[in-house]
Amino acid sequence: MNRKVENYIRDIFSNNRNIVENPTCYIYDLEEITNRINEIEKNKLPNVSLYYAMKANPNKEVLAHVLKHSGIAGIEIASTGELHTAQSVGLSNMNKVLFTGPGKTPVELEEAVRSNIRYINVESVVEAIRINEIASRLNIDKVNILLRININYFLDGASEYMAGMSTKMGIDQSRFEEDYKYISNLEHINICGFHVFAADGVLDHEILLKYADFVFKFVEYAQTIVGKVSVIDFGGGFGIDYTKANRKFNTKEYFKSLGKIVEKYNFEDKEIILELGKYIVGSAGYYATRIIDIKDCKGMKHIVTAGGVNHMRLPIATDRKHPVYIIHMNEPKLYNGQLSVSKEKVDIEGPLCMTEDKISWDEYIEEANIGDIVVLTQSGAYCYSASTLWFLSHELPLEIIIK
Ligand SMILES: Cc1ncc(COP(=O)(O)O)c(C=O)c1O
Repeated sequence: MNRKVENYIRDIFSNNRNIVENPTCYIYDLEEITNRINEIEKNKLPNVSLYYAMKANPNKEVLAHVLKHSGIAGIEIASTGELHTAQSVGLSNMNKVLFTGPGKTPVELEEAVRSNIRYINVESVVEAIRINEIASRLNIDKVNILLRININYFLDGASEYMAGMSTKMGIDQSRFEEDYKYISNLEHINICGFHVFAADGVLDHEILLKYADFVFKFVEYAQTIVGKVSVIDFGGGFGIDYTKANRKFNTKEYFKSLGKIVEKYNFEDKEIILELGKYIVGSAGYYATRIIDIKDCKGMKHIVTAGGVNHMRLPIATDRKHPVYIIHMNEPKLYNGQLSVSKEKVDIEGPLCMTEDKISWDEYIEEANIGDIVVLTQSGAYCYSASTLWFLSHELPLEIIIK
């Protein structure tokens, strides 16, 4: 954790009245987001468009900041709720919106069609039929879609898989020809390309390159049935490192080699879409919470913090710890026998009355005292909004932007 952020956290836990009273918050560093976007903008191929998967962090200030960058072509939404959030921060050009996700309701599809968003990423024949019916009823000639395909390729080396195995996402590649036959007969559907998001949290760029080659081979074959398509949407997947080693996904090498694969297939005229979430905002976020108590129970210490999985569910949900830092606040002791932690492994747990309420576990801590601040870095993506925020009705953690 850098000094700037450490000092900022120490300051708000000492002086910000809201944090003093409710000592648990997320902190977002907008400069880090800008650095990530600019880095991709600098290295990417001319035919690559970068979208922001706003499910990663729908905080309004974060979203508005992301949208300011010329390197961002638009957003990928997973619900019309996300669309409304984007509209509330000023996004009015619906040609900047892609809509993906299994189980879009008929009402959501109708709003997407009426809004004339750029592409609906269609996940099944049923969804295509619903869109077609809506377009027909609204006298809309064509709705532009990408067909989401669950490609027959297991992209080993990710943290979560959407495809390459049996999932609810997209159309199974083995059903592609049959389902395409049906969808292509729907009068109001215009298939512009494919959506092939397969896995999330890939740190090794070589793994994504092998997948890209496999996908291009599929598209080459699919075009013999569908005709020429103009878009291939890879979804998200660039990973961040959840250890203190802080290894980086090598965007420069990724795009350099992707360029060679594009050349091999003569796909220079196709738009390649990336809908990145974690890579853009993951490293820009910090979860910070005060140590309320320290217990010693049957030979092991437990640090109890003001917030737990109600605020920060990602580590326990994915069985992957975040880097932990302790900021020392030098609070006076409440009594002489008060416990502290010194050079030992502990669990760090929230205030919920369930044993799974751990934000970290088996964590070696050099020193920690009641009143100190526990900080989990890499907490900008899939943390606040993916937590069980109202479980036990504790106050919500504040979300603070580093100014
Ligand atoms: C359809 C789609 N696109 C993009 C993303 C963003 O993925 P990531 O955060 O790995 O970049 C996701 C994440 O689940 C997704 O479901």
